[in-house]
Amino acid sequence: MNDMPVRVMQFDLDPEEIKRSIPTFAHGLGLSMTLPYLEPYLIRSMRVALEFATDEKIIQDVKQFIGQEGQHFRQHQKLNDILRETYPAYAGLQEIEDDMEADYQRFTKTMSLRFNLAYAEGFEAATCSLARQALENPEPGDTGMQRLFKWHGTEEVEHRTVTFDIYHHLYGGYFYRLFVGMFGQYHFFKYVFRFANYISKHCPDSDKPKTLEVKTRGQKDLERKALLSLLGKVLKTYSPFYNPAKLEIPEMHASMSTQYSNEAIDTRVME
Ligand SMILES: [Fe+2]
Ligand SMILES: [Fe+2]
Repeated sequence: MNDMPVRVMQFDLDPEEIKRSIPTFAHGLGLSMTLPYLEPYLIRSMRVALEFATDEKIIQDVKQFIGQEGQHFRQHQKLNDILRETYPAYAGLQEIEDDMEADYQRFTKTMSLRFNLAYAEGFEAATCSLARQALENPEPGDTGMQRLFKWHGTEEVEHRTVTFDIYHHLYGGYFYRLFVGMFGQYHFFKYVFRFANYISKHCPDSDKPKTLEVKTRGQKDLERKALLSLLGKVLKTYSPFYNPAKLEIPEMHASMSTQYSNEAIDTRVME
């Protein structure tokens, strides 16, 4: 069995759950909004890279990466469509989507393959850090929306080495990857926040929780520790000695991979 199979999943997305999540999960929804633009851009870059790659293992990994990312953005598109239909004001999200798509089309057309691969690795290093953080602090619950995010995180960890390996196979060079990768992270997360702010701002007051949840000191401490731990993971990816193949992956990742393979309606190895 390939260790990054392309799983075709089916998630029952509940519009009421998505609506209820808006006040507390706007950044997760904002992240989801970016993916039908970011992930096709990664796929375009990787398809060009395949024209030049000569290492059989890396070529197969890139194909599996393309297959996995292709499923990710299609699943998030379903969630985003429900979100967009929730309130009429969310039709305005389209303007941000158009800006993001224009940026990525411009990068594909005008920037070098080296730039596009370094951007991809910056994004993948950050999302692998987020996914590992989520594995270390698993959220209880398995609603359709929660399963969608957990499945996506599981596969992000599975394919963590692919953009790093193809960049170093074709180009190499630490400083270029570092600076373009950091630019990529800034560029990408700027859009996550733009979407999240729009989603929060245009949620009608009548649908926001009536009382603000008061967090205990213990909860605040836990959140601070989680944030510092995530920051530590991201900072380590900036080291010249960083290599995603050497990362320690929480044990439960293997069982989640198996679980999602069993739940998939189809699994594919790319030709
Ligand atoms: Fe993805
Ligand atoms: Fe990815």
